[in-house]
Formats: sequence, C-alpha cells, structure tokens
Amino acid sequence: ARRIRLTDFARAKREGRRWAMLTSYDQYTASIFDAAGVWALLVGDSAANNVFGYDTTLPVTVDELLPLVRAVARSTRRAFVVGDLPFGSYEDGPSQALETSIRFMKEGGCHAVKFEGGVRVAEQIRKVTGAGIPVMAHIGFTPQSEHQLGGYRVQGRGTGAEQLLADARAVADAGAFAVVMEMVPGDLAAQVTAELDIPTVGIGAGPGCDAQVLVWQDAMGLRQGTMARFVKQYAQLGQILEQAAATYVEEVSSGVFPAAEHTFGDPSVPAAASVP
Ligand code: KIV
Ligand code: NA
Repeated sequence: ARRIRLTDFARAKREGRRWAMLTSYDQYTASIFDAAGVWALLVGDSAANNVFGYDTTLPVTVDELLPLVRAVARSTRRAFVVGDLPFGSYEDGPSQALETSIRFMKEGGCHAVKFEGGVRVAEQIRKVTGAGIPVMAHIGFTPQSEHQLGGYRVQGRGTGAEQLLADARAVADAGAFAVVMEMVPGDLAAQVTAELDIPTVGIGAGPGCDAQVLVWQDAMGLRQGTMARFVKQYAQLGQILEQAAATYVEEVSSGVFPAAEHTFGDPSVPAAASVP
C-alpha cells in the first residue's frame, strides 16, 4: 500500500474514521508498527526518557534525535513519520523553528514535524507550514514545559478551558494539519474535536478525539512500573524479555546453549555428525 499522506488524515476527519499513532525510535518497531496498520509514527522527544535514559524530555538534542528519525523513516513503507522538535530548537522564533524543521526533513527524512505550544508558537507554525513542511501541533500538557506547569497535570480544567480552546484555534488558524492534545478532560477534547477542521490526536484526552497516540514502550509494557492513568497496556514485553534473557543466562552458564545444532561441524567428520 502507498504512503499515508495529509489528504488521508483530512478524509478520515470528514468521514469520522479514527486512526492510531505510536511513537517509534528504531528499525524494528517502525517496520512492525507499519505492518500493523499504524497510520502515523512519532519519533518523539520522549526518546529522551525511553531511549537515552533521561528523567525528562528537556536534555535531548536535535543531533541525538536525527539518527532515530532517519532510522524510522527508512524502515516504513506506509506510515506517515513525524519528527518531534526537542526543547530549545524552535522557541526562539519562526526562523529557528524553520531552520530546525528543515534539518528534520532533509537529514531525518520525516514527512512532518511536531512541536509543543499553542498561541505562543502560532508564528512558528505559520512560518514552517509556509515553507511546505506539515506541522503537527501539541497542546494541553506539554512535557517540555513541565517545570512551568508544575509537573504532570491535567490541563484545561476550569478557567484553563479558555486557554486550551484559544491554543487549539491558534494552531489550526496557523496551518497545523493536526493537533495532539495531552492530558485534557474528555469533554473539552471532544468539544475541540467537533469545532476544528483538523484532526485531534489524543493522549489522555478521552475517546472523543479523531486519533490516539501512545508511547510504545508504555503501551506494550517494555517499560515496567507505574503507568499514567491514560495508558492501556497491550502487551508485557518487559516481562517477556526479562524472562527470555534470564533463560539465556542460565543456559549459557549450565552449558545447554550452544547445542550441536548451533555449532559448525568439522568438514572432515562424516555428514551425519555435523550440521546441515
Ligand atoms: O514525545 C512524545 O512521545 C510525544 C507524544 C506523547 C505525543 O510528544
Ligand atoms: Na514530544
């Protein structure tokens, strides 16, 4: 099947069809999620936590993310690949945002970029989309601002609803092709989804969005431990991998592995005694 493109997202919105997005940071998850029918893959700055082992998304750099973007883009045939601009690479203004976005498109080979913020990055969205680069916006809880927001907290409650609506309208007006809404009350997210012509992609924003996104290590349980309330786990890969690795350790120490079938034979020994 051909590559998913912007017109597919627009048509899905018109026809009320929902689609799924996952993060991906490497070859195998990219090709497996692609084959599974995930329409969009996000090479998130959440690689900071999920690949590089940082506590927050703040430290990860453009130079660290670009090779991951390249790997994911190379490993997909159908999925639309979105590269996430890290903290510090677009806030200074439209020129900085465009410069970083061009690096992501040229060096990363992704099909769109994403960056955090609503009203406050509208000019950046205008500039980048004006250069022909699709932008996915990200409003509600924005992890790069977690210190300013006072930690991981639901956004858009009470008087925050007006700000969330203003952010949603601003990114749509500025030309974003879609908007991620993170940790927003479900009724407010549904209201935004009904109002906007562009698709909303929820994470912790309830069932009223046009699409959903999850961090793959959370959704598939590669990461073990406490999950946010909005995460549903579809597998327990962490447990499977730990058990498999422990079995390998045990078989190496006991000498069960490698067995004859894993061993190259001596060509001078009769065929029956050697490996085919
Ligand atoms: O970096 C990321 O994984 C994200 C998604 C959670 C939307 O921005
Ligand atoms: Na992100």
